[in-house]
Amino acid sequence: MTAIKNILIVEADEIIRNALKTLLEQYKYGVKEANSIKACRENYDMDTFDIIISDLRLPDAPGTDLIKSTRTPVLIMTSYSSIRSAIDTIKMGAAEYLAKPINNDEIIEVVTKLLSEQENVYPSPLESHNHEPPVKGMVGRCPQMMEMFRRIRKVAQTNSTVLVNGESGTGKELVAKAIHDLSTRESQEMISVNCAAIPENLIESELFGHEKGAFTGATATRTGLVEAANKSTLFLDEIGELPLEAQARLLRVLQENEIRKVGSVQSTKVDVRLVAATHRDLKQLVIDGDFREDLYYRINVMTLLIPPLRERGNDVLELADVKLKRTCDRLKTPLLRFGEGASKAIARYKWPGNVRELENAIERAVVLAEGEEIGEDLLAIEGDPTTETNTIESEVYIEGNDVEELSLEEYFQRFVLSHQDSLNETQLAKKLGISRKCLWERRQKFGIPRKRKEAI
Ligand SMILES: Nc1ncnc2c1ncn2[C@@H]1O[C@H](COP(=O)(O)OP(=O)(O)OP(=O)(O)O)[C@@H](O)[C@H]1O
Ligand SMILES: [Mg+2]
Repeated sequence: MTAIKNILIVEADEIIRNALKTLLEQYKYGVKEANSIKACRENYDMDTFDIIISDLRLPDAPGTDLIKSTRTPVLIMTSYSSIRSAIDTIKMGAAEYLAKPINNDEIIEVVTKLLSEQENVYPSPLESHNHEPPVKGMVGRCPQMMEMFRRIRKVAQTNSTVLVNGESGTGKELVAKAIHDLSTRESQEMISVNCAAIPENLIESELFGHEKGAFTGATATRTGLVEAANKSTLFLDEIGELPLEAQARLLRVLQENEIRKVGSVQSTKVDVRLVAATHRDLKQLVIDGDFREDLYYRINVMTLLIPPLRERGNDVLELADVKLKRTCDRLKTPLLRFGEGASKAIARYKWPGNVRELENAIERAVVLAEGEEIGEDLLAIEGDPTTETNTIESEVYIEGNDVEELSLEEYFQRFVLSHQDSLNETQLAKKLGISRKCLWERRQKFGIPRKRKEAI
């Protein structure tokens, strides 16, 4: 049995809309309707439809605006038929063009044709051996990500140690969490430890625990994080930063399945599944003598290499849309969309900080946006990231970690107040991703006038 195909009709004229709906339902299509672009965006996830049929002239924006917001093929109808607009519509990426008044046979023929073309390009899950549904919480459909989803599912069923390798911000922690959530250990909480964040002199007792009196300051016996992960998954992030002594202890845990607290002579059995991550080349660390070779082989049983975002094709646009929607929900702003320039810039940019950088750029753009559309300037990703490190996002976000609690005004104020002494207006505007004029206007609006230069 083939799955029902779903079609969204976007048409302001109720009579035409109903007629189309009735027609398509007779042919057993699932039909949903909207009378404007806004209604579409507010009520539906457009990517879930197989085809969108939209009028060109809608009350709020041309139907062709839908094309860049979704991967679903958009069929454009218009009563203002002319060769010129037909060509324009197709140039803008419409899958097909129909002139009104529309003939029933014609529309069914076009819809059938589009659906069969689509099946050849995107085979249905039942027909294809290559298709892999995404792992929950992870966006991606490029071949490399699909292969990764397949491996995540497979490895999650086992107890083997997994090494997750990938550039900063590619989703290493998310992958570790996905492995845990899909495993039989899922009912226990995964214990995450960032090896780079714990001071070297504390890491052994943090990980393995200590006996009372094991060292100065050890006033009580303490259970370590490895033991806390008993029956669960231990995620060791940045494992390349683990000091050599702690590496030796960890190796023992992995080999013997038992743990000995610092200062103790007794061992305790533990059942821990290790997922480790690093952005570094562990093999090189082994060569340099910074990582134990035996531990390297012990954890390198199964490696998942997460591709950088720049190698994931159109996934970046899908990720951007998902993150934009989520950010708008979280910051409780009206739903925004990317302008054409912004979408192009997102696709073009190399994203050296990967998904994390994309999230930060979007969050900042949402905070600064005025109106419904995010322009390229607000993303502040111009410049060649291969020659110039884009530090804007990280600088803003070091201070803006708790941006959820901040209003736009507070956010803007905080940023301006903390940077205006070190930056001139042009630099400040650039870092905020807005024009100087806009900075000046916002200063007026939020009551933070420019400081006068102190008289000498
Ligand atoms: N495929 C994806 N789909 C959706 N969100 C993603 C995806 N990959 C990463 N993210 C998001 O990007 C952010 C960074 O991911 P994560 O922290 O897992 O990366 P990381 O590789 O551990 O980064 P770092 O090296 O900076 O520690 C997170 O907010 C995560 O939810
Ligand atoms: Mg991480």
